[in-house]
Amino acid sequence: MGTDIPLHRIACITGATSGIGEAFARELSDRGWGLILTGRREHLLEKLAGELPGGPPLRLVPGDLRNPQDRQRLLEALKETPGLELVIHNAGYGLDRPFLQASPEEVLALGELHVQSTALLVNQVVPLLCPDRPRRSSSVPPGIILVSSAAAFLPAPGPALYTATKAFIVSLGTALFPELSRRGIALQVLCPGFTRTGFHDHLGWDPQRLQNRGLIRWMAPRDVAKRSLRRLWRPAPGITGRSPVYVPGFSNRLILALARLVPRRIYNALARSW
Ligand SMILES: NC(=O)c1ccc[n+]([C@@H]2O[C@H](COP(=O)([O-])OP(=O)(O)OC[C@H]3O[C@@H](n4cnc5c(N)ncnc54)[C@H](OP(=O)(O)O)[C@@H]3O)[C@@H](O)[C@H]2O)c1
Repeated sequence: MGTDIPLHRIACITGATSGIGEAFARELSDRGWGLILTGRREHLLEKLAGELPGGPPLRLVPGDLRNPQDRQRLLEALKETPGLELVIHNAGYGLDRPFLQASPEEVLALGELHVQSTALLVNQVVPLLCPDRPRRSSSVPPGIILVSSAAAFLPAPGPALYTATKAFIVSLGTALFPELSRRGIALQVLCPGFTRTGFHDHLGWDPQRLQNRGLIRWMAPRDVAKRSLRRLWRPAPGITGRSPVYVPGFSNRLILALARLVPRRIYNALARSW
């Protein structure tokens, strides 16, 4: 084995300061992965770094991914990392107010994060992940997880910009899946449903709303991360055998299946009240 083979597999996780991204970081760290972590709240990145098991390499690249300079800094860090085998683009936030009430700054900012940074990151990291680069082992393929949302399939006037930008991620991932599979890169578009994280605090939701009700079953972020990784690395029967879109949790999948059956007129009437 050549000396240039890195000792650890490295994963980059965006939005690692809390919630699902933090859960991915803890899960991968427990499995011995080295990490490149990013998010705006540097003190939370440092706190997390202090709590992870020592050993594997750990690099913090704090920054705002809506900002082109910060995006570039992250990409430079990735280019300097020979053992990069997994990129999880998870950073995101909700905008829960009628679309026409959002300011121009709010409209552009959400697009910068969910649309521009996703497209740029995938465009730039694919060459870095190609299987002919030095890797730790070939037991799992290099991979990309793009975090979208189950809401991408439930467009509604309230969170219109959120659902539309998350639908972009589904479309981009679905379009690129055959090409990336051909290159030996596993791709997943992770579409979580109701997950207990800081996401709803930022939206100012009353904690009472975070209770299980009917088909609504809240998941823990660590559960979402575990299921996503299990699914990413499960051998697939060829590129036609599986969709890259993964919705964790039976009740979330059931909600989406039922929503597809609802006649459009009724869907529109219900969506107006969201
Ligand atoms: N929770 C749910 O029910 C749910 C459901 C469906 C989809 N999702 C998606 O899951 C992903 C993770 O969200 P979460 O639920 O874990 O919420 P969270 O706890 O609020 O985490 C969001 C993460 O994104 C980061 N982030 C936000 N804006 C950023 C920016 N401009 N630049 C860089 N990083 C930024 C945050 O870090 P900083 O604030 O430190 O920058 C944080 O680490 C999001 O994409 C969200 O849309 C969540």
